[in-house]
Amino acid sequence: MHTLSPVEPGTSKNELYQQVCEQLSELLGDEKNFIANAANTSALLFQSLPDILWVGFYIAEGKELVLGPFQGKPACARLPFGKGVCGTAAAKRKTVVVPDVNRFSGHIVCDIASQSEIVVPLLNWGKVLGVLDIDSATANRFDDDDREGIESVVAVFLASQATNDMPDLSEEAAAR
Ligand code: SME
Repeated sequence: MHTLSPVEPGTSKNELYQQVCEQLSELLGDEKNFIANAANTSALLFQSLPDILWVGFYIAEGKELVLGPFQGKPACARLPFGKGVCGTAAAKRKTVVVPDVNRFSGHIVCDIASQSEIVVPLLNWGKVLGVLDIDSATANRFDDDDREGIESVVAVFLASQATNDMPDLSEEAAAR
């Protein structure tokens, strides 16, 4: 199965995220299944990023976000759209970085050990498919380089979904 090359000490955040994006692209390959790819994306991030305690997906379903593939301790199954860090990122369609969750009004506690958090929305032609949520036990864990890096990781994940709605123009399809 897929083996990860360890990150060299002294690797910059930009280099780390570049490596993670390359590894993810290789890991996902031609697979398009949302659950399979979300599961592998969270596993790769959990193994590759230092100082994180939870990483996972919430999937949009009506007015809620429902827990999807993740790594870490069991978490809240449903979050209201527009509430908490995840719901805010989904409603605003923008990444939300929270340096100190204790100061984020409306933060939804799934694990009291979490001190900082980043949530990136999954956008498909403006439609919110869900969010990617990452938590750390360290305050101020995520800076602008992490935001850029994790948004790039989400872009690689979304690229694996992009062709799902496209017509099948392959030669096999034409022959059918
Ligand atoms: N803290 C999040 C809830 C999800 S967990 O951290 C896994 C929030 O406020 O939306």
